[in-house]
Amino acid sequence: MKILVTGGTGYIGSHTVVELIEAGHEPVIVDNLSNSKESVLDGIYGITGRKVPFYNVDCTDLEAFGSVFEAEPGIKAIIHFAASKAVGESVKEPLKYYRNNLTGIINVLECMKRYGASSLVFSSSCTVYGQPEELPVTEEAPIQPALSPYGNTKQICEEIIRDTVSSCNTLHAVMLRYFNPIGAHESALIGELPLGVPQNLIPYVTQTAAGIRECLTVFGNDYDTPDGSCIRDYINVTDLAKAHIKAVERMESGKQKQNVEVFNIGTGVGTSVFEIIKTFEDVTGVKLNYKVGPRREGDIEKVWADASYANNELGWKAEKDMRETLASAWKWQTTL
Ligand code: UD1
Repeated sequence: MKILVTGGTGYIGSHTVVELIEAGHEPVIVDNLSNSKESVLDGIYGITGRKVPFYNVDCTDLEAFGSVFEAEPGIKAIIHFAASKAVGESVKEPLKYYRNNLTGIINVLECMKRYGASSLVFSSSCTVYGQPEELPVTEEAPIQPALSPYGNTKQICEEIIRDTVSSCNTLHAVMLRYFNPIGAHESALIGELPLGVPQNLIPYVTQTAAGIRECLTVFGNDYDTPDGSCIRDYINVTDLAKAHIKAVERMESGKQKQNVEVFNIGTGVGTSVFEIIKTFEDVTGVKLNYKVGPRREGDIEKVWADASYANNELGWKAEKDMRETLASAWKWQTTL
């Protein structure tokens, strides 16, 4: 199946393109390279032996985006990753986030209608749950007021998708609420490429271990958790990528129960920051220089997924464990 992947040279996008090829699909990439590099295409080629059609196009430009559909007739599904994703930056530059993320999804839906693509997979986030009252968190948990413009764009995009799909009976969507994606492809030919100082935990850990950063700061050790540090559900990026293939195939084979469905994509296991540090040291044999600092504003204390709906209904399950995943992140770091 011909599948358009926006943000296909990005972190999750590139891993998904690889999995699409391995599942026998024909991905086409649209990316404006605002947070990725064209050389990612070489990594995809190195793993799959396939040169994927690539369009350096910004999906907020409706005309340019539409021209990709003209050039690539027969696109059936879209996996939409292209979006700005830095929580802190979104607080400083809210308009950039609302413009990029909302115009992007509007144009994706507009082109799906115009050019007859029927299935959409949308990258949503567990951030929509805020600090859930019950753990593990299910898809039925209430959506909490967003803590950042970034989080708000995910909530608004979900609403835009729901309204558009209910107004048009040819459209279908699956929204995947990701927990914390980490790791890299086992080949170490693709992985995460954070620009500047990483904001996320694992790239900061690997860069500290590599001597690029002096010291990792653990943001708070006085949370109400067994060791005092925050707990997240860290999901291997290749496992996460595979969920997108399941989602597309579910829509195309008419197995959806509703025209819009939501799935939590996580492991179901919560891991603390201290546990990450310990496992990383253990797996790599590298001693991490770290210190405890104050809490980071806006951080959730603890969240992990109930992924049973994705397990049972989507036929998807996280397979890789934390040790293997941290080893892949380190292998990738050492190739950079
Ligand atoms: C955040 C966003 C999420 C977004 C994701 C990817 C929220 C609530 N979550 O996840 O929506 O999809 O980023 O951009 O806004 N930590 C440290 N030291 C560091 C970095 C992180 O201790 O140097 C800790 C954090 O306090 C947190 C954990 O590591 O407990 C994970 O942090 P991070 O990787 O930034 O992801 P989230 O904040 O969970």
